[in-house]
Amino acid sequence: MSALPPPPLHFLLSPFVAFLFFATLLFNFIISRRGSTKYMNRRLPPGSMGWPYIGETLSLYTQNPNTFFSKRQTRYGKIFKSHILGCPCVMISSPEIAKTVLVTQSHLFKPTYPSSKQMMIGPQAIFFHQGQYHSLLKKLIQSSLLPSAIKSSIHEIENIVLNLLPFWEKNNTIITLDEMKKYSYEVAMISVFGNKLEANEMEGLKHLYHCIEKGYNSMPLDLPGTPFKKAMKARMVLNDKLRKMIRKRRENGEHGGGLLGVLLGLKGEIQLSDSQIADNIIGVIFAAHDTTASVLTWMLKYLHDHPHLLDAVKIEQEEIRSTRLETNRGITWDDTRRMPVTCRVLQETLRISSILSFTFREAVEDVEIDGYLIPRGWKVLPLFRTIHYSSDFFPNPDQFNPSRFEVAPRANTYMPFGNGAHSCPGSELAKAEILVLLHHLTTSFRWEVIGGGDGIQYDPFPVPKQGLPIRLHRLNDVDASN
Ligand code: HEM
Repeated sequence: MSALPPPPLHFLLSPFVAFLFFATLLFNFIISRRGSTKYMNRRLPPGSMGWPYIGETLSLYTQNPNTFFSKRQTRYGKIFKSHILGCPCVMISSPEIAKTVLVTQSHLFKPTYPSSKQMMIGPQAIFFHQGQYHSLLKKLIQSSLLPSAIKSSIHEIENIVLNLLPFWEKNNTIITLDEMKKYSYEVAMISVFGNKLEANEMEGLKHLYHCIEKGYNSMPLDLPGTPFKKAMKARMVLNDKLRKMIRKRRENGEHGGGLLGVLLGLKGEIQLSDSQIADNIIGVIFAAHDTTASVLTWMLKYLHDHPHLLDAVKIEQEEIRSTRLETNRGITWDDTRRMPVTCRVLQETLRISSILSFTFREAVEDVEIDGYLIPRGWKVLPLFRTIHYSSDFFPNPDQFNPSRFEVAPRANTYMPFGNGAHSCPGSELAKAEILVLLHHLTTSFRWEVIGGGDGIQYDPFPVPKQGLPIRLHRLNDVDASN
């Protein structure tokens, strides 16, 4: 087949074609003008996108995150653009704009995680969803973590503490973070499975969890022998174990307590599949574990470094202890509500450690905020830590000063547990377990930190260097030796 001959020149110059040609040009011109004015009015936030592809990732991960964010905040203001981990993003250090993203316009910003992390936890877990499915899960998870539910497990939480303390005492030195992880893991297991789990079942699950955590915090290299590959294998085994457990509980008609009991007990049209339940069980243990352990580790460090605060906490806890001993009982939920001094130390620890420095969302469409355009698909990072370190809301922010919480912080400036639809449903459990441990630790022991230094390491959350090695001494022994 031969090619078509070129059109004769006079055809191109005919008045009709010339009209079409100029009309098209004019149309394109108007459209492009409209487009550019749209962009002119909706400019991108100020900031630097860094190097091609790697953006500012290296700067963020090779310096103190406080320095990275505060430098840019000083240069560009409360909303600025950057480029990290291969994604263009907008960072936000204003409480009002963070509230818009997390609360008032949260439907325009979906949660976003790397796909390797979603695979590891389970794609049907609460963190990755929005809308109806998310609301249903949130209601169910929250109902298993209500004060009424926590109240009845305080006794078991206390038993975990009483079993762990002698073991810590016996060891010459303990790594606080590791031991706090053991504690928060056992508490998480009770809140998820109720108190029916056999000790060997608990140990088996713990080993798998440990493996998954290692892989979760490593490079997602799907190659033989890598932590990622091992974690994916452990994830499959854990999934099988959980599904067997779920099937057994369904067949026996004994749903048991904890979150699993709530999820299995759904009646009527709305039911969750076994894999939806398994993903959420794995997810909640994940969310509960390292977070609480990291905060506890910081709290021990701050109390150690501020003896006058430790004394004030001890006085408060001693009072509760003597009431307990008079009535011959363990600690109760109501006791944890009568610890204003200890609670303020906890509040300040949550602020100053800000273990979740920021969270990630993604714009589901072009969104205009504070006069700036956030294009669809861009990541949005509300910077919790930067807000917690703003001297506008927390004077002398670097100073550990629990008394600042004698007055409630300004709305939306204090977000250790997030804000809005995805805020933490486990905050009350986390606080209760921290207070129960501190009660026994401060009334029966003193601790010395081994090795100085104020360094920080990321594990994956910021924690004191080497996980804070300490030595515990039972107070009676110290008294006796004096
Ligand atoms: C001191 C300890 C804890 C801290 C600092 C903490 C912090 C947070 C934060 C900041 C978020 C919001 C993340 C976001 O907006 O993207 C969150 C979400 C979450 N947390 Fe916690 N958390 C802690 C303990 C716990 C515990 C003990 C549990 C469960 C027993 C838990 C379960 C969850 C769950 C399931 C979510 C996801 C909620 C959703 O997507 O709707 N957390 N946590």
